[in-house]
Amino acid sequence: MRKGRFTKELTREMSRFNSSLPYDRLLFEDDIAGSVVHARALRRMGILSEKEEKEIVKALETVRGEIRDGKFAFREELEDVHMNIEARCTEITPSAKKLHTARSRNDQVNLAMRLFLRRNLISLMGLLLDLIETLSKKSEEYGKALVPSYTHLQRAQIISAGMYLNSFAVMFMRDFDRFFDSFKRVNVMTLSSGTGAGVNYLYPAEFAKEMLALDEVRVNSLDAVSDRDFIAEFLSNAAMTAVHFSRLAEDLCIWSSEEFSFAVIAEEYSSGSSIMPHKKNPDAAELLRGKSGFFIGNLVSLLTVLKGLPLSYNKDLQEDKKPLVESVEALALSLEVLKGMIATTRFDREKMRKACEDWRLAGVDVVDRMVMEGIPLRVAHERAGAAVREGMERGVIPEIFRESAGANAGKRIAAAYNKKKFNVELAKRKRSWKRLQEKTRLKGF
Ligand code: ARG
Repeated sequence: MRKGRFTKELTREMSRFNSSLPYDRLLFEDDIAGSVVHARALRRMGILSEKEEKEIVKALETVRGEIRDGKFAFREELEDVHMNIEARCTEITPSAKKLHTARSRNDQVNLAMRLFLRRNLISLMGLLLDLIETLSKKSEEYGKALVPSYTHLQRAQIISAGMYLNSFAVMFMRDFDRFFDSFKRVNVMTLSSGTGAGVNYLYPAEFAKEMLALDEVRVNSLDAVSDRDFIAEFLSNAAMTAVHFSRLAEDLCIWSSEEFSFAVIAEEYSSGSSIMPHKKNPDAAELLRGKSGFFIGNLVSLLTVLKGLPLSYNKDLQEDKKPLVESVEALALSLEVLKGMIATTRFDREKMRKACEDWRLAGVDVVDRMVMEGIPLRVAHERAGAAVREGMERGVIPEIFRESAGANAGKRIAAAYNKKKFNVELAKRKRSWKRLQEKTRLKGF
């Protein structure tokens, strides 16, 4: 690429600095898919003969095989996966010298990123559904186990552990929805944008869109090559998911502490101490809590790159690779670990029930009983409060608190946690995920 314009090579440091290979080498499948379709488009445009198209597609497939088999020698001085693939294709067939016609790396990279994110989105959404399913099963298992709910990390009211576990499943379902909704903004055909100014050929964009199973063709090429919104959106959704699992992880750290002893995390997800022989630490939960910082950081990192960037393509945009690739990998691993940890965590029904024996947990129920007898809420609240103070001072259960708090919990929980609706909603998501998977199966490969 430097042959014509340049007489000097990059310095060694600059070559390393300039290279996106450590991250974009993971995009090779996507780059090749884009190039196969581009070659087919070039044939339709009359730029390639049938023979040249075949040779190029075959060369691309050969390169794909070489990379898959770990036999491909990546060259850092070629900067990125795209140049590496093109250079190797040209070694295989001189026809590949025509492959980059009507294309710039700007639109090439943008498309490859979209295809990479698309397939990873689908698998991440699958992992999310697995996690939701696991939480839902656990929730069924502990559907009748009573446990205090907490506000301000102080005991509040009695709920069931099933309702508690389900609340996280609902959070992750919202995360699923966010990823699903973002899909249409990822699934866009950006070839034919060139450097950003468009291309000097009649590009069969609809054809390329169909071949790549994309939803639509970009509207404005200038926007297309500089658009990384879809990546920022993914990183934001990943960060939100991470914030959710960090909260679950924190609760598990608390619940598995000696002081609480509500949960027992399996040994497979715990570590010991190098000096204290008695320790069993909730490492998986702590790491999940800690990793949320990484996901949030990646979002901030990309937004900061994008902020104030002039149109259209700028090399700064290459800095999108690291946060995207690393977030995708870390999110997949986090979801798998979390699912495994949840599946193997045992909740101690007895310890949870014992914590519910605290008579004060019936406070709201006591107030409501008085309200139902016609006493205004504020009066009832004050009366119950005074009874609590007196009961605590004297170390006895006040008369109005005698009826067990758990007795009222059942009806309230049943109304507060709509299991049926949850199951319907989960089944809906599973169906849409399947459809997405089928819809995006590539044609013509
Ligand atoms: N490696 C670059 C990236 O990932 C490729 C795009 C380069 N385009 C350019 N005009 N220099 O963004």
